[in-house]
Amino acid sequence: MGENGRSFQNRFPRDLALPGGSVSLRLMEAPDRNVILDFARKLPTDDLLFLRLNIASSEGMDEWVHNVLAGRTITVLAEQGGAVVGYASIHHNDAMWNRHIGEIRVNVGAEFRKQGLGRRLVEEVFGIARDIGLRKISAQMTPDQKGARVTFERLGFRPEALLADFVVDREGKTRDLLIMTLDVEGFTDVEYVSAAGARKAS
Ligand SMILES: CC(C)(COP(=O)(O)OP(=O)(O)OC[C@H]1O[C@@H](n2cnc3c(N)ncnc32)[C@H](O)[C@@H]1OP(=O)(O)O)[C@@H](O)C(=O)NCCC(=O)NCCS
Repeated sequence: MGENGRSFQNRFPRDLALPGGSVSLRLMEAPDRNVILDFARKLPTDDLLFLRLNIASSEGMDEWVHNVLAGRTITVLAEQGGAVVGYASIHHNDAMWNRHIGEIRVNVGAEFRKQGLGRRLVEEVFGIARDIGLRKISAQMTPDQKGARVTFERLGFRPEALLADFVVDREGKTRDLLIMTLDVEGFTDVEYVSAAGARKAS
């Protein structure tokens, strides 16, 4: 990732007006670990199902922070009065075969839902994904997570795969996993050139 690939940093921090009051958006840093943990522990367990990490646990949070420090995860936090009220992350890795792909994860606190915050957070991390040269973005959810499905559909994501019984909840009951994807700027089945590489070449 070249220096320009981090131009998204200039977009933060900034305020966002919502019907329920204004929130501030900023990039997550390592010391945010505990405020995010407080937020995660108040979320309904169903909302934690699709995540790769158990973010309501200390170990899960440590791994998240580790990924942020390593540059594999970039997270935008929404805060009000010093408390986290929502976040969205873009996660990617450097493996040769999937280095063009990113996964978005988003969570908005129950009392802040249906005010446009989820959509705005996803738009923010989608912009970051584009800045860092990712070409295909996915989001995972269970098909009954209606809010998530509508939020991603409105932004142009489409169902790409439905994996039967792929998620198991705390009671041991299995659920299907829906993967929705969006090609950045119409990307599909074309040669991948990283943003940094493309800039060097031009
Ligand atoms: C998904 C989630 C982030 C949406 O957050 P939100 O702040 O409520 O979303 P928004 O207010 O921006 O709504 C975006 C769109 O989805 C619609 N929507 C939101 N929740 C909905 C619901 N439960 N049922 C139907 N539509 C819903 C809104 O009406 C809006 O549509 P519009 O643009 O036509 O008005 C939130 O529901 C959440 O945190 N869910 C649990 C975690 C999760 O499922 N994450 C997704 C997996 S990555």
